[in-house]
Amino acid sequence: MVEMNGPRAQWNARPAPTTPIKSTNPIRVAIAGVGNCASSLVQGRYFYADVANDAKVPGLMHVDIGGYHVRDLDYVAAFDVNVTKVGKDLSVALGAEPNNTWTFQEIPTTGVIVQRGPTLDGIGKYLKDVVIESPEKPVDVAAVLKERKVDVLVAYLPVGSEEGIRYYAEQAIKAGCAFVNAIPSSLVASQSGRRSSPQPDSQSLETTSRARSAQRLRTAFLLDSSPIVACSLIAPIS
Ligand SMILES: NC(=O)c1ccc[n+]([C@@H]2O[C@H](COP(=O)([O-])OP(=O)(O)OC[C@H]3O[C@@H](n4cnc5c(N)ncnc54)[C@H](O)[C@@H]3O)[C@@H](O)[C@H]2O)c1
Repeated sequence: MVEMNGPRAQWNARPAPTTPIKSTNPIRVAIAGVGNCASSLVQGRYFYADVANDAKVPGLMHVDIGGYHVRDLDYVAAFDVNVTKVGKDLSVALGAEPNNTWTFQEIPTTGVIVQRGPTLDGIGKYLKDVVIESPEKPVDVAAVLKERKVDVLVAYLPVGSEEGIRYYAEQAIKAGCAFVNAIPSSLVASQSGRRSSPQPDSQSLETTSRARSAQRLRTAFLLDSSPIVACSLIAPIS
């Protein structure tokens, strides 16, 4: 086990693998909010890629959940609003200002270009002078999720992005993928959120293997995030 503590971790970041270990059982993940939490999540995918299934890893509840290993997370799409991140490869965007989380693992070029999401209430009063919005036009997030065959959208928007988190949840429902709300915002408990969410066509969703795997995973992801932050989940499949 590599010890990670303080700035030493930054200096000793493990170099990006030249031939990253491939997923054997891929889960196609999209990220909304390419910030510090997203950086740790993606770094972890590469840092723990070769850990034994039964290893005890601090910071991870399980290396393997229901047959899915950490390395099975395939990041296939990402959305942000900051000019420093939009249009960049995910590996570059995760290290872009104002992100400042520890770099314990360099990330290889992913081939995933961060796309422009709608800003909504994602830039609060304390960040409006720090974050410069990308001049790009926001993309159709649901269409991207469908086109990339995303299984799970994980939203790491800033605290307080109530409109933003509801928007991404609705895009996930439209696209028929699972959604992990990783921010402390009670989405599912909100009656207005429920009413405004379009109802998925559960008949057609259940027939796709992609949807089935997303359904299996939603519980796993919920378990993983829940001890750290209030985490709610909208499942497109009943
Ligand atoms: N679940 C967990 O384990 C956990 C742990 C810690 C923090 N969090 C939560 O995760 C969230 C993110 O934390 P962080 O430290 O990464 O924050 P951060 O500020 O570093 O990252 C947020 C990112 O979201 C982007 N963003 C803002 N509006 C957006 C929009 N409309 N569409 C797409 N991207 C947008 C920002 O540009 C930024 O890149 C916070 O709400 C925090 O409370 C979760």
